[in-house]
Amino acid sequence: MVVLAASICTKGGKAVISRQFRDMTRTRIESLLASFPKLIPTNSQHTSVETADVRYVYQPLEDLYILLITNKASNILQDIETLHLFARVVSDMCRSADEREILKSSFELLGAFDEIVSLGYREQVNLMQVRSVLEMESHEEKIQDIIARNKEAEAKEELKRRAKQLEMQRREQQKRAAGQGGGSSYLGSGVTGYSSIPQQRFEAPDINPARTSSPAPSSLRTPAFKGSGMKLGSKKTKQAELLDALGGEGLAYEDVSTPSIPAVNEPSVPKNTRGTLPPVKAESIHVIVKEQISVTLMREGGLKSMELKGDMNLHITDPSQAQIKLALNTPTTDFGTDLQFKQHPKVAKFDDERVIALADSTRGFLVGQPIAVLRWRYAGKDESYVPLSINCWPSPSNDGTCEVNMEYELENEGVTLHDVVISIPLPPGSYPTVSSHSGEWALNPSSHSLDWSIPTISPEDQSGSLEFTVGGDDISAFFPVKVSFVGQGSIAGITAANVTRVDNGEEAVFSADSIVTTDTYVVV
Ligand SMILES: *[C@@H]1O[C@H](CO)[C@@H](O)[C@H](O)[C@H]1NC(C)=O
Repeated sequence: MVVLAASICTKGGKAVISRQFRDMTRTRIESLLASFPKLIPTNSQHTSVETADVRYVYQPLEDLYILLITNKASNILQDIETLHLFARVVSDMCRSADEREILKSSFELLGAFDEIVSLGYREQVNLMQVRSVLEMESHEEKIQDIIARNKEAEAKEELKRRAKQLEMQRREQQKRAAGQGGGSSYLGSGVTGYSSIPQQRFEAPDINPARTSSPAPSSLRTPAFKGSGMKLGSKKTKQAELLDALGGEGLAYEDVSTPSIPAVNEPSVPKNTRGTLPPVKAESIHVIVKEQISVTLMREGGLKSMELKGDMNLHITDPSQAQIKLALNTPTTDFGTDLQFKQHPKVAKFDDERVIALADSTRGFLVGQPIAVLRWRYAGKDESYVPLSINCWPSPSNDGTCEVNMEYELENEGVTLHDVVISIPLPPGSYPTVSSHSGEWALNPSSHSLDWSIPTISPEDQSGSLEFTVGGDDISAFFPVKVSFVGQGSIAGITAANVTRVDNGEEAVFSADSIVTTDTYVVV
């Protein structure tokens, strides 16, 4: 027998996926698939149809067809049996046999197809064997993952080195400019030594390692730069030290973006951490709030630790709007005195009135790049501050399986969470049967976890649940549950209410961008 190809196509004959086991051009297979539906007699109970050249052995797969294209000398009974195995593999790997699901698992499916037929001949394998081969491959995938991570780390180092170089160059220029202009030019008219410096940018090198052998499986995420720019407390950044060395002149601005990208006229949020957060168009007064949260919840309930770090950056681009003050909203979740604030030395004491203004009201803010005006930090164990509660509840049954109930609830009205992924580890070798779920779920073969994705969690739609059963009765296998998201808003409730001009008291137009990222967010 010779199986020429195994394919899944639409009822109209469009290929969804196809594996050719013999040399065949793309046009050839596409035309074979395109002509196939027309050959099927209406209301036919048959499962095969022939042309002058080939035989199609097929079966419907919900709204699609799965089929083998064989030569006519092939043993049809064996082909039918082979086709059934293909179909079982598909239903084993995909939750439903629709086009999207098939495409999502195409890499795994094609891998499985290759286990069943090799060079056109059937391999003596069953479903269990196919599964276990793929499990082993996912181990190889993990190794690929590690290699990819290493390459990413290398690329980051290179970026850092180059950023430092640029930074030094900029400092040089600045020093020269300051020498010419007679020094203190950071305030007042808004004409500063900084603004004459051209923007310097560079492209990040491609940090996705090239793959030669196979397409990247969907579970390999593109590595994202993680901002670790928010340094709080008394520890001085290198830049601050440099500024001190320059005589303490100039309203210091900290490295508000990632350490690897120079903060030259660049809004503070690193692009890759935005996820699906809608972009914000910056006005000439732009307020950027960034927060990063780390939470470790305990599976029995309670909070092991939580740390929230945030900063507010003011980016004014119009020198005539430099003399302003900014009033903050009353937070929805009030951290009270548990939240420690620190403001820029030139900014007036931040008190109960929640207004940010320069201590010397005759002066204006620095124009031309973002400056950190306020920072805050919470570290503690008060469960009432946890923005998103997660309940993972495995209950072992007597039959060696576990029923797992998952729930989340947004506990902070000040944020909307985007791109939420709650990842639940699964016992080795076990596959879940999901009985109900909000959002979407998928198996992540590289971590052997169930990844539950919720596009948005907002105060209007704040909770959801997922229920599945899976083989295994060791409940510790389901931990740690890992959570990630990108938030819009501020967990500490630090948002700008209005901006007013100091000179005439008029309200000024401003834009605001507030973003929360997760560092670690786990249930252990
Ligand atoms: C600005 O916002 C603050 C805080 O919400 C409020 O108290 C103040 O009245 C507002 N000022 C103007 C001019 O709207």
